[in-house]
This record gives sequence, C-alpha cells and structure tokens, in this order.
Amino acid sequence: MVKTMQWQGKSLTLLDQTKLPLEITTILCHDYRRVGEAIKRLEVRGAPAIGAAAAFAMVLGWQELMDACPKATATTLLPAFEKTKAELIATRPTAVNLAWAVEKIYTLALTLPEESAAAVALTLETLANQIYEDDINVNKRIGINGAALLPKKAKVLTHCNAGALATCGWGTALGVVRQAFVDGKLAMVYADETRPLLQGARLTAWELEEDGIPVTLITDNMAAWTMQTQQLDAVIVGADRIAANGDTANKIGTYGVALAAKHHRIPFYIAAPISTFDFSLADGGHIPIEERDAMEVKQLQGVVTAPQQAKVFNPAFDVTPSDLITGIITEYGVLSAPYVENIKKLQNKLQEED
Ligand code: MRU
Repeated sequence: MVKTMQWQGKSLTLLDQTKLPLEITTILCHDYRRVGEAIKRLEVRGAPAIGAAAAFAMVLGWQELMDACPKATATTLLPAFEKTKAELIATRPTAVNLAWAVEKIYTLALTLPEESAAAVALTLETLANQIYEDDINVNKRIGINGAALLPKKAKVLTHCNAGALATCGWGTALGVVRQAFVDGKLAMVYADETRPLLQGARLTAWELEEDGIPVTLITDNMAAWTMQTQQLDAVIVGADRIAANGDTANKIGTYGVALAAKHHRIPFYIAAPISTFDFSLADGGHIPIEERDAMEVKQLQGVVTAPQQAKVFNPAFDVTPSDLITGIITEYGVLSAPYVENIKKLQNKLQEED
C-alpha cells in the first residue's frame, strides 16, 4: 500500500499527489513553510493526511525556532510558535483535522513551559508520530465497522479519494472497501472521477488498481445513472468536517451524490475518524468552505477548456445535510439518526475517557 509521507527527524518527505498517476515523485520538506505550501497545492491532501503532515510541520517549526535561539526557554518560543500554528491552519480552511492536529501539538508545548526547548522538540515529535500511527489504527477500526454493514458481493460507489492517499494509510471510505475486499465480500467499487482536480480518477482508481481491488471509473455526471442501472449496495465517502448535528462537508459533488442515493434508496455512508468532528459547530451552515482558483475549472491538467474570461465558482467542498446520511462510520461504531443526540452521547463518552 502506498505511503503518503515519511518523517525523518529533521524533514518530512511527501508523496506528490498532484503528479499521480503519471509520476511517482516525492517532495522533501525541510521547513514548515514548504509543508504548508504542499497542503495548499494539494501535493498532500485528504483531511487526515493534512492533519498528520501539519503535525510534523509544527515540529519542524519548533526546531527552527529552537535553532535560531539555542539558549531560549520553551516559554520564550511560544508566541512565535503560535504564529506558526496560525499560518498552518490558514492553508486549508475546511478540513478540521488540520486545526485539530496543530492545536494538539501547540497545546502540548503550552503545558511544558519550564522544559528546555530541545526537550519540548522531542516531546512534540513523539506526539506527531503518535498522530500518524493512530490514524492508521483508527482507519482499520473504521474499515471493520463499515465492512460489517455491507452485503456479500457488495457494489459500492465512492467520490473523491478517501483512501490510503488521503490518510496515513488504509483510508476511511476506502478503508471500508479494503476491509470488505479482505473479507471476500466486495464485487466492485465505482469511483467518481471528481472534477475539477480528478482525485477519483487520478488517485482512487490508481490506489485501488495498485492493490488489485476491483474498480470501475465513471465521470461525475454518470453517478445517478450508475445508481439506477448497476444495483449498488451503498455509497461510502469520506469527510472533511462533521458538525454536531451530523451535517458533513466533503469534496464538492458529495451533496449531489447523496441526493441521488436518497432517490434510489441506496444507503449513503460517511466514513470518518473522531478527529473530523467539529463539536463546536451546531450545523453545517457554519462550516467554512474553501474556494479555489478559477483556473482549476477553466483548465484540465494544464489544458485550457473554457474561455479565459469566463466567470467561475469553484467551491472545493459542499455540505451534505444529515437527513441524507444513513450512517456515519467511526472508529467507535456507526452513528445514525437522531444525530444531535447520538453525536452528543459520543462526545460525552470521549470526554469521560480523557
Ligand atoms: O481537496 P481534497 O482532495 O483534500 O479533498 C479530500 C476529500 O474531500 C476527502 O473525501 C476527505 O478529505 C476525506 S479523506 C479521508
């Protein structure tokens, strides 16, 4: 299975996802700014993957501050470290895993004011590694919980890429698919190509092909017809942010897929870790939606496909209302309606565990 990133102690190597599937190349990041750039440019993408990459970026940020003032105490570095945190959070606004991971690292630094900067660097590095490792384990648990929902010979449709490439390994929506494949109950994955940047075609189809998992690529405008003609058993997608009422932000186009699934009475599942929940937001109306450069719509892989003066609306995500969602598959089990109550119960349970 493909590796999205590798930490080397003083640098982070990222698989360049903008080049896939034509080229398998990596980017060596020696400082947090380059990791931030990679997140902006989608060289690393997918909510859990950008969370882990940003956690390692925070460690690089701390190391840089420490190297500039070797005798400084941890307390003196904190104001500058807060700026590093803010810069990284600003790189992509929708996926909450990014803010979740950098806040975790920053909060840990806050608790160690008396430690030497070097000791703090080691503790932060341990936490970043932990965030990375935990993500893989969490995805495995999501996979088991989700595969249990599928019938034998399951046909599943997915949108964008919520696979090993979007995480630290295994995947969320594709983690469910991988587990169903291991269990011998997966007949076919239909992958939406996912305009404008083709994460479904370039990444999902590639990732599944690489691992011998049956995949059929469709363009986005084929999803409803595929539902009507191909006897699908489920739609499973990932998430970038889930509000306290279950409304879910995911790659643009997910909302339309959910509407079509509802019409065809096909169960529509979100697969996501707890780090993707934003309990502070009452509903999806409060989720910030990233808008990206118009050229992503007016070009396809660098080839101009529209008049250059054409006005463009390019939201990178949409919000699927929770009443279209059959279940949210997490590492703690599958949540279903009533979401407000059930998400609150899960939040309380997590607080008790802390
Ligand atoms: O713009 P992207 O490619 O980062 O969007 C990715 C998605 O929308 C994924 O479905 C989501 O981040 C979940 S990844 C496990």
